[in-house]
Amino acid sequence: MPFADSSAAPAKAAAAAPRIDLYSSIHKALRLFMTDTLVRVGRLDTGDADELAATLAQLRSLLELCRTHVAHENEFVHAAIEARRPGASQRIAAEHVEHLDAIAALEAEVAALAALPREPAAQRLYRHLARFVGENFEHMHVEESSHNATLWSLYSDAELVEIHQRILAAVDPAEMGLVLRWMVPAMSPAERAELLGDMQRQLPPEAMRGVIDTVRPHLNDSAWGKLARALNLPIAPGLTTR
Ligand SMILES: [Fe+2]
Repeated sequence: MPFADSSAAPAKAAAAAPRIDLYSSIHKALRLFMTDTLVRVGRLDTGDADELAATLAQLRSLLELCRTHVAHENEFVHAAIEARRPGASQRIAAEHVEHLDAIAALEAEVAALAALPREPAAQRLYRHLARFVGENFEHMHVEESSHNATLWSLYSDAELVEIHQRILAAVDPAEMGLVLRWMVPAMSPAERAELLGDMQRQLPPEAMRGVIDTVRPHLNDSAWGKLARALNLPIAPGLTTR
């Protein structure tokens, strides 16, 4: 269950043991992806064609991931909540509808800016993206607090792990690579070691090399050193094969 936060402290009393958290890791990824992209849009030089293309490509990719994230939450998490407490996901489900509208509007602004790169259009896009990011931060907080409380009251950890595995099965390889690129740098060293340690045990070596190659460029030397030690990988560049 690579994306679920199950970093329990076994020595603690059972009542205080952390529950399976379906939201925390993917939301860390989204927060980093959103803030990084927002900053890039804010400092964009609309006269630099390469920078414009790269920045808008990142923004398109963020918006597409936001769309699939909403779909996964609706299909798997809200369905689980509604199955045992009808109506309990209504507020957040309504916000998802608003988010999908906002995503479509932002995509239209991106297309317009790509076709006619002008400074005022870039500033307008920056403001609208900032508002979208702000709304999503509030939204994710509600999910991590009130939705988690609901899920924990309705489902055992074993059932939550099953839901999480169903979500993972619906993520295609390209989306998985994109999520890992943003999730791993957004995590604490202990979370990275747990996530990638699980993957190291489950994936063939070649696939694991691909994961390491995806995330290594986005970790600084200190973070990489800690992860490499946790995974028993060589620290030196180019030796990430075992
Ligand atoms: Fe959501």
